Amino acid sequence: MTVTATNEKTETGRPTSDELLFQPATLGPYRLPHRMLMAPLTRSRARQPGNVPTPLNACYYWQRASAALIITEATQVSQQGQGYAWTPGIHTLDQVEGWRLVTDAVHKAGGLIFMQLWHVGRISHPSLQPDGMLPVAPSALRPQGEAFIENDKGEGELVPFLTPRPLLLEEIPYVVRQYARGAKNAKDAGFDGVEIHSANGYLLDQFLNSSTNRRGDHYGGVIKDRMRLLREVVATVTEVWGPDRVGVRLSPLGTFNDIHDDNPEETFGSAARELSGRGLAYLHLVNPATTALERGAGPDPRSQRMLDLIRNVYGGTLIIAGGFDHDTAEQWLREGRADLIAFGRKFLANPDLPERFRLRAHLNRDNPTTYYGGGALGYVDYLTLAQERGEEPKPCIDERWR
Ligand code: PHB
Repeated sequence: MTVTATNEKTETGRPTSDELLFQPATLGPYRLPHRMLMAPLTRSRARQPGNVPTPLNACYYWQRASAALIITEATQVSQQGQGYAWTPGIHTLDQVEGWRLVTDAVHKAGGLIFMQLWHVGRISHPSLQPDGMLPVAPSALRPQGEAFIENDKGEGELVPFLTPRPLLLEEIPYVVRQYARGAKNAKDAGFDGVEIHSANGYLLDQFLNSSTNRRGDHYGGVIKDRMRLLREVVATVTEVWGPDRVGVRLSPLGTFNDIHDDNPEETFGSAARELSGRGLAYLHLVNPATTALERGAGPDPRSQRMLDLIRNVYGGTLIIAGGFDHDTAEQWLREGRADLIAFGRKFLANPDLPERFRLRAHLNRDNPTTYYGGGALGYVDYLTLAQERGEEPKPCIDERWR
């Protein structure tokens, strides 16, 4: 058995060596030292104008390079794919150069990093779109809720969503090409792989779910057709990267961004089955059990069955994210319900999360008021255990990765 910290004792004196969280794993061509990943987290701190990653963003990821794998914040593959103020893109040369700072920094620290490729579809606003046009979607159905945009004073502001413009059949190849370009640019920027964002009510999820896809052509209707765009995007991205460096994220039973599906077992069971056997690096699920809890509903009784179904039909590596702590993550691995666990908010607030878990140390709490926008505050100033003990924080904007 290859394990880290074989003779290590925790703060409470318990050995950690037999924990599955600390067992190495393989992911596509990569060997992971343990099973704790950093989940994608929107932080809205790209340089303006241009949505370009900065040395500060590089610092943030570099601090978290002890994750077995970092999956970046969702990153728009085109201007049309942007849905929130100040999120980074991967469609201009400046953005590729900016991401280079990030990948170099993470690699210097021994980490591994995949970029999450994103198109928001209808979850946008004309002020974020090319030429102030309407956001695009499978069908002309307005989402409930508000878009987060930049106002005239350069501040963030919430404004109601508008009815999107349905994509013409002849435009769909152009959308697929946006992903292809994003995938190529991610390669130029030095990433180790990419994750296709097909979750949380954004474009690909809008095609998958019955509530948002009312198309009469062969991109709508039965699930085989609602899945067509995802299939085409996976095909074009795997052409760039090879399947073993590509992951896909789904959110079965998700309701975020005003979405639902009339037959989620069929929809997400079929999607997982379709993705299985392609040699992808992984399938990444937003935990359906926590989705319901977060909207204030009780636990969704369908979530366990959904997870079992996907585990059964998907033959490859399965990652689950959402609401885990050390003990529940370990338990899910032990029960064989997932192969790897991704942590979002816990990684946001604890740059050294694997070390803290290894030592069973206390955790910092995340501050939701600094999730989106702003600078270093609530971003790169969460302390490691070593810093809590008095070690000087390493300078953030540092020549080491330039
Ligand atoms: C968000 O910005 O709130 C956000 C972005 C991407 C997601 C989920 C939430 O997948």
